[in-house]
Order: sequence, then C-alpha cells, then structure tokens
Amino acid sequence: MSKIPKHVSIIMDGNGRWARGRGLERLAGHKAGVESVRAATEFAAENGIGYLSLFAFSEENWNRPQSEISGLMELMIDAIINERTTLMDNNVRFRAVGDMSRLSKTLVDKISDIEASTSLNGGLVLIIFLSYSGRWDIINAVNKYIEKLRGSVASMDQPVTAECLENLLSTAGIPDPDLLIRTSGEQRISNYMLWQCAYTEFYFTDVLWPDFRKNDFKRALDTYADRERRYGKTGDQINKIN
Ligand code: IPE
Ligand code: IPE
Ligand code: MG
Repeated sequence: MSKIPKHVSIIMDGNGRWARGRGLERLAGHKAGVESVRAATEFAAENGIGYLSLFAFSEENWNRPQSEISGLMELMIDAIINERTTLMDNNVRFRAVGDMSRLSKTLVDKISDIEASTSLNGGLVLIIFLSYSGRWDIINAVNKYIEKLRGSVASMDQPVTAECLENLLSTAGIPDPDLLIRTSGEQRISNYMLWQCAYTEFYFTDVLWPDFRKNDFKRALDTYADRERRYGKTGDQINKIN
C-alpha cells in the first residue's frame, strides 16, 4: 500500500443501529464495537500508521440517557483493563484527550495507569477522544492563552497566532489527521476536531462501527492513496508540471 497516512482518525458511529437491527439493547452495540477498536488498532499498527485517533464519546453525548452513559463509562473502564495486553503486544502508546474533569475518578485513574504503562512504547500512538468537542478544545485553548498572558509581563494586545493556539489545544504535539473515517453513513463532523481537520481528507462508509474490520480500513486507505491533496494549489503545481 502506498501513501500511508501518518494520522488516521475515526468517528466510530452506528453502534445503536447495529444493536437495534438485532433486537438488542444499545449497549450491546457499544460492547460489540470494542472488537472493532481492537481490529482497527492492530491494522494501524501492522500498516505503519503513526497515530490512530478514535472519537469515543462527545461532549454532546452527555445528553444521552443516564443509563447509556453509565454503561458506556463502565465499558471503557473494562476495555482499558482488558486491552492492556493487545496494546503491549503491538507496542502501542495510549493517550486520552478531552474534558477529563467530567469523567469519574475510577476512569481517570485507569486512563493515567494505561498512559503511564504504555508511555515507553514506540509504535502506534492510539488516542481516544473522550468527553471531547472541537469547540470546547478551541475555547479551552483561548482561555489558557488569556491565563498565560495574565501571568506574564507581555501586554494583553499580543496577537494570537495559529502556532500559539495549536500549542494550547488538547492535541498539541499530535499531527493533524490526514484521513478522517466516519462509519454508519452519517456525513457530518459532529463537533469533532474542528481546528485540526482544516485539510483532512474525509471518507464516509455505510458500514456500522461494530461491523468495521481490517478490510474496511484497507478500503479507506486505498481511497486515500488515490486522493490528490492540493492545499489551495493547482493540480499542476502538486504534480510539479511547469
Ligand atoms: C457511536 O454509536 C458511539 C457513541 C456515540 C458513543 P451511536 O451510539 O451513536 O450509534 P447510533 O448512531 O445511534 O446508531
Ligand atoms: C459522534 O457520534 C460522537 C462519537 C462517535 C463519539 P454521534 O452519533 O453522537 O453524532 P451525532 O449526534 O449523530 O451527529
Ligand atoms: Mg450515532
């Protein structure tokens, strides 16, 4: 496979519909989705992808029924405990991004644990976006900037640059996604990495997240390899004609 993206991100959608289609509770769909996370992580590690980020729970998802939220949070705690071996076997470094202040202490502790024990792994970086939204991220960065200015001798009228904002985003140090995959047929960004996806290639598939397997991931990469990323330039400039 040529042109392997450095950072692939996935909006894992369709768990509820997968479960409904089988006459099951929504939570059964979320549980089944854990297997897809494992498959995607293995695929990314095997194919030399540097960063795989997964949108697991949005800021807006806090508006779901309390029973679904609690079920999802328990599932994440279990997944972190159970997937430790897969992460270590595949040399994967784990990171979580989002508003951790809204998560339970148990989950935050599990996250810190797994981040620490995988911190020396030099392979794939797996980033889970939890309690995250793109607008939250940008607002948070701006507030951090104001806070920084207050504590410094520099004057408040220093212009904000893209670079200084990027360094304050929760994704600082992580390259912008090259490819964003969304499953389940929805074609929207749902307040995900708004700043970071400025030049990301989008790939939409009707496959529901619990059905997403390595061959589906490969199809997305093949499509990506055929895309021409122009960043505002002409096709001729990109292909170095003239
Ligand atoms: C994605 O699946 C998982 C989360 C948002 C947590 P959904 O739960 O949104 O599934 P659908 O969209 O209802 O099918
Ligand atoms: C987006 O999925 C969030 C995650 C996949 C975690 P949703 O299913 O919540 O998105 P909308 O609300 O339908 O756009
Ligand atoms: Mg959904």
